[in-house]
Amino acid sequence: MCGIVGFIGRQQAAPILLDGLSKLEYRGYDSAGMAVYDGQKIRVEKSTGRLKVLSELTHDGSTMPGTVGIGHTRWATHGEPSDRNAHPHCNTEKSIAVVHNGIIENYMKLKKKLLDHGYEFISDTDTEVVAQLLDYYYKKTNGDIIDTITRVMHRVEGSYALGIIFAEHPDHVYALRKDAPLIVGKSKDGNLIASDVPAILKYTRDVYFIENEEIACLTEDDIRFYNIDGEPIEKTSRTIEWDINAAEKGGYEYFMLKEMYEQPKTVRDTLNPRIKDGQIVIEELGMSDEEIRAIERIHIVACGSAYHTGVTAKYIMEGLARIPVEVDLASEFRYRNPILNKNDLVVIISQSGETADSLAALREAKAKGVKTLGIINVVGSSIAREADRVMYTWAGPEIAVATTKAYTAQLIAHYLLAIHFAQVKGQVTDEEVAEMLTDLKAIPAQIEMLLANKEHIQKIANRYVGARDVFFIGRGIDYAIGMEGSLKLKEISYIHSEAYAAGELKHGTISLIEEGTLVAALVTQKDLYKKTLSNIVEVRSRGAVVLAVTNEDNTEIEKNADYVIYIPQTNKYFTNSLAIIPLQLFAYYVSVGRGCDVDKPRNLAKSVTVE
Ligand code: F6R
Repeated sequence: MCGIVGFIGRQQAAPILLDGLSKLEYRGYDSAGMAVYDGQKIRVEKSTGRLKVLSELTHDGSTMPGTVGIGHTRWATHGEPSDRNAHPHCNTEKSIAVVHNGIIENYMKLKKKLLDHGYEFISDTDTEVVAQLLDYYYKKTNGDIIDTITRVMHRVEGSYALGIIFAEHPDHVYALRKDAPLIVGKSKDGNLIASDVPAILKYTRDVYFIENEEIACLTEDDIRFYNIDGEPIEKTSRTIEWDINAAEKGGYEYFMLKEMYEQPKTVRDTLNPRIKDGQIVIEELGMSDEEIRAIERIHIVACGSAYHTGVTAKYIMEGLARIPVEVDLASEFRYRNPILNKNDLVVIISQSGETADSLAALREAKAKGVKTLGIINVVGSSIAREADRVMYTWAGPEIAVATTKAYTAQLIAHYLLAIHFAQVKGQVTDEEVAEMLTDLKAIPAQIEMLLANKEHIQKIANRYVGARDVFFIGRGIDYAIGMEGSLKLKEISYIHSEAYAAGELKHGTISLIEEGTLVAALVTQKDLYKKTLSNIVEVRSRGAVVLAVTNEDNTEIEKNADYVIYIPQTNKYFTNSLAIIPLQLFAYYVSVGRGCDVDKPRNLAKSVTVE
């Protein structure tokens, strides 16, 4: 979703803003813009399309002099993607410029009030309402900026991260947030604001996380913070440890490919620190054995791929620890008045830690007095800060919109959690745990082997670049793998694809199978081999071409499938971590073959900060 950057310092702002915006491209956008104070007035340049257009328009920022500015990539919500609706937005006199991520829910009411006061609007956006509202209070308070901003904060409803500059106070950049991400970076050459860490990593690792309803006021050398009542508050900065190269493509054609290749490392990083002397130690969990034994039910809540991790986790947690698990889409959870009991645990899974629905679900759970645990990738993100406990997936910054390495890291986190809970509850023996840990430790090298097989998968993918529909079938954990494989394919290649529980296909969907339809069959669960095999036979006899992903020792499948991809042996609960690799590669090569923008698929945003 929208990306925000801001800079105030001793260097020209526009090139820094453009560079920061380029690091936020992954969030998804349809237009981009900048506002810079040029010494006399605020100058705004903006345009629909890629950042490249804005770079060309401003000759890489060189035609916008000034050392104070804000920039924005817009993912349209209110108003179509257009130059007119692109940010920054200004008041009528163009003395205040605003960039915004989020949605002002009561903007119609506010707009009416401003129209009644003679204000005029040139865009369809809720953000322009904020710019004019700032103008209204700025005049009313005789130019008291903190008073102006806090009055606006009291009036607007919804979510916002805002960057603001005032022509009459050109030595300041203001930033404020509620339910949308915003960070402040402190560097020796100036200070910055941004929606996310990669945008400022080149300039600083010293970061302040702005909390809900807080204001930051930046000058060249100083940063001050205020609460919603305008009272000064103290904040401490944190050092970001991320490797700066992790936010660069490093020779790969796309971030997605690079991130797939990082998986052996990110799996190791998530796993190794939590295995000590042959035991699973999840220090950050902070739950005593009694607390774990007391858990009556786990509710896993997430969106998209993170939800698919949850579906896999249900099979594993129930299978190993015998704790009942419910998995909910975050967007459904919060509106169905879920039944939560005091001995339940709500687990929110999120790469970004900012997904609006997941954050709302977390708050719903907390409001009901239930313990919450976040499985989160972005350190210091909203969900990480608000959940009672956080278990981080150490996948590093993920830039491609389609998740790969964060997803496989989430799986690892859940394996660890399930084994740990099972052990505490006496559901597994020490020998079983030792065997599982051996299998877990083998996963990174096994992923490496699967990635090395990329040419084989590329060849198969090339044949299906023109496919109209693709189906993914499987049972149990294999069904969960299919869900993720299907999402990967459809989101980056725009080919229609669906995942079905293999046994469910004949209850309707099988009528869509015709001569040549590709069916990817996941067959990694020994006790379900025969059942899924009969589903393969069913679809094949109706003309389907079958691509099977199965275990090394299941060669029987070759007689019934057109293509077979083998995954190495592992514990039955961990097959997802391996089987997903060829499916990620398959989706990637189909997308490349179709000439799609792999890292930035149309209509999608990396971090979905609106409902
Ligand atoms: C798909 C994908 C999305 C995210 C979903 C949740 O490849 O990346 O489906 O999984 O938007 O995002 P997070 O994990 O940031 O909450």
